[in-house]
Parts: sequence; structure tokens; C-alpha cells
Amino acid sequence: MKVLIAEDEKISRKALMKSISDVGDCTIADNGKDAIRLFDQAYAKKAPFDLVFLDISMPDINGMQALNIIRQKESSRNISRSDRLKIIMISTSMRKADIKKCIKLGCDSYLCKPFKKQKLYKELIRLGFDIPDELIADVDGSNSYTELVAKIIRRFNSGEFTLPVLTHMVQEVQSLLEKSEPSIEDLATIVEKDAVISTKLISVANSPLYQGVELIKNLKTALQRLGLQEAMSIITTITNKNLFHSENKPLNKYLNTLWTHSLACACCAKYIAEEIHDKGLQSIFLMGIIHDIGKLFLIKAIVEISPEKPIENSDLQAAIMEVHTFFGAMLIKKWNFPTNFIPVVKNHHWEKFPGDAGKEVLIIHTADLLVTEIGYGSQQTDSQHGSNNKTDKALSNLFRQLGIDPDRIKVIRDMVLDSMKSLTDLF
Ligand SMILES: [Fe+2]
Ligand SMILES: [Fe+2]
Repeated sequence: MKVLIAEDEKISRKALMKSISDVGDCTIADNGKDAIRLFDQAYAKKAPFDLVFLDISMPDINGMQALNIIRQKESSRNISRSDRLKIIMISTSMRKADIKKCIKLGCDSYLCKPFKKQKLYKELIRLGFDIPDELIADVDGSNSYTELVAKIIRRFNSGEFTLPVLTHMVQEVQSLLEKSEPSIEDLATIVEKDAVISTKLISVANSPLYQGVELIKNLKTALQRLGLQEAMSIITTITNKNLFHSENKPLNKYLNTLWTHSLACACCAKYIAEEIHDKGLQSIFLMGIIHDIGKLFLIKAIVEISPEKPIENSDLQAAIMEVHTFFGAMLIKKWNFPTNFIPVVKNHHWEKFPGDAGKEVLIIHTADLLVTEIGYGSQQTDSQHGSNNKTDKALSNLFRQLGIDPDRIKVIRDMVLDSMKSLTDLF
């Protein structure tokens, strides 16, 4: 059987390829445009695909649009319903509206990520494909992790999880910023109630991230140097830091690595944004802190449900990696974060960014790659990655896409390494 997999996320693609390569020949597309091109090419060569997987969330042409285009092309080529290509949509979204829309557009099946190998094979059998019995019976370890993550998502969707709430102060500041003319004085009145946060704000204003000429000694001047939006970012960062702590030792170690990764990413994103001189990028630091928030809650939920599972298990990490972006986006929606945070959290692992993708997500993606390269990866195993030609090339391309000279990579890398020495103790 000839299979086309259109999926832009590396981890999901790898997992799907692993399952499918036992039953068919795979061709890969990392976006919808490419999927359609490959579909046309195979048709022209009179060797069409038997099955296509379309991920819903892809840059350029998304899965639903690709589904629509393929079905239209088939009907203009007079291909009958029974002979047309089998299309399976894959997504982390279980929104009924999405599923209904895909069925209406003509998909044959809809699978929610992450899914078990057995579920996939059963679905293929239902669609008329031949799957050897021994494959269906095979239960491997990775499935139990996939099932665990799927269970968490189901619980989350049905509202069974009690989500941590943002601290009272963040809420107060959020509503202050929504006012038509918020002032530094109003902000100071809210913040000075908490001595710890006030002191930390002053330290941050004096840190390499915001350093001015004079040493700041009081809250009001610190807030003036930071500005309202930046101050909001820092307050949220300080209060969020508590979420990255656990009494469970292995979990705490994992959270520490994730926190350092998030902080390095935030710091790097800020330096990249400064190169662009774009005033619209005021929230970029907080976006860096928040981008992997989905991982934080998934790992905490896993330890709560199955404390015996080893956290660093690669199958478990792969399952988390596959869904953390979607899960994180749901979380920040519930937290009423500004809407421009959502694409950043949701799409920061895209491999290609279309022209209209927005600078913020492109910057966070770039920062994520750069800090992982210098040893601040989100997992302990990432820290051994180091620099390689592929990453260097990817970084150069991303810098060019952002309109920054790739020669600046080295400068920013050194600035991040230098700042991290003092920043880690600040928050
Ligand atoms: Fe991530
Ligand atoms: Fe990350």
C-alpha cells in the first residue's frame, strides 16, 4: 500500500511512520501544499496513493484545506466515491465542529493524537486495508504512555482536572492593563502589596535584560524602566516560577530543567526582538516563559496519575512532545491570556513558517532552537545536543526570515549565555 503522510511535526511524523512502515510504503510531506503536489505527481505517474494522513494544523495549506482540494480534484477527474483515496485526518483537537467539518469535506476517518498503534490498525482494517494479525496483537510499551497522555487530554477536555489559577496579583494587573489609560502609579499600588515581588522586580530592572545607566533602588523607578507591559510579563514570570516546583525529587529535577529552558528561551527571544526594533513585540519575554507550559502540566498530571512511571522514559517524552503545544494552547485560553499568545504556544514547533505566520511565533521557535543548541534544552537529554551543521543552517535561515543578519547569531548566543549566569538566581 502507498501511503502519504502530511504532518509538519517531527515527533508525530516519526511515530506515525513507525506504525505505518510495517504495512506500507511511506512518503512524507511537511505541509499541505507539498501533500497536494505529491498527490498530483502520483496521479500523473498512474501510481496514486492508497491512503493519506492529513494533520489538521499545518502551515501554508492546512489539513482541512488540503482535504477539500484533493476531493475537488478527484471529482473533476471523475473518480468515483468508491475508488477515491482514503483520507485519515489527524489532530489533537477533539472539537466536534472540526470533526463534523472534516466528515462533510469527505474524510474517511478522524484520529485524535496521540493514538495507539492498535487503534490505527483497527481503523485501517475498517477502511478495507489488509493488516497482518500479529501486528494487531502486538502491544508495545510505548502504547501505554500514549494511552496515559490520551487519558489526561480526555480528562482535561471533560473538565475533570482542576487547573491551577493565576495568582490574584496577575489577575489584578491583567484587569488594570485592560483599562483605557493604565498608569505606572496604579501598577505600583498593586505590586507594592507584595514585598517579594517588588524586590524581585527591582533586581530584574537592574539585570542585564534591562540594564540602564543608573542603579535602581525603588519600585516606581523600576516600573518606569520596565514599562507597563514588560512589568506585567515579569510579574507573571515571578509568580509562575512557583509552578515549576515539586516535592517529588525526579519531577522537581525535570521541572528545573524546563524552567531554565523557558527562561533562556525568554531571554533569547527578547534579544532577538531587540534586533528587529518592533514595538509590537512587548510580550515576547513572557511568551518565551509560557511557550512550553503544556509540558509542565502534562508531566505533573502524569506523575499524579502514575507516580511509578520513570519521567525521562523516551516514549513518555515523545508522547508529551507530540501534544504539549495543543495542551498548552488550551491552558492559556482558559487563563484568558491575550489571543496573540495562542499561535505562539500552539505552533512553535512548526518546521516551516509561512509569510503570514507572525513574528512572535517565529522568534520563539528560533529562540527555542538556539538555546537548546547551547545546552538549555527542555529535557535533560537535550543538553548533550550541541551545535551541528543542520541546526546552524536552520538558525541562519530563521534569522534571514526575521530580517536579521545571521552574523548576529553568535552575538546573541553569547549574550544569552552571559545573562543566564545572573538570571537563574533572580526569579
Ligand atoms: Fe515546545
Ligand atoms: Fe521549548
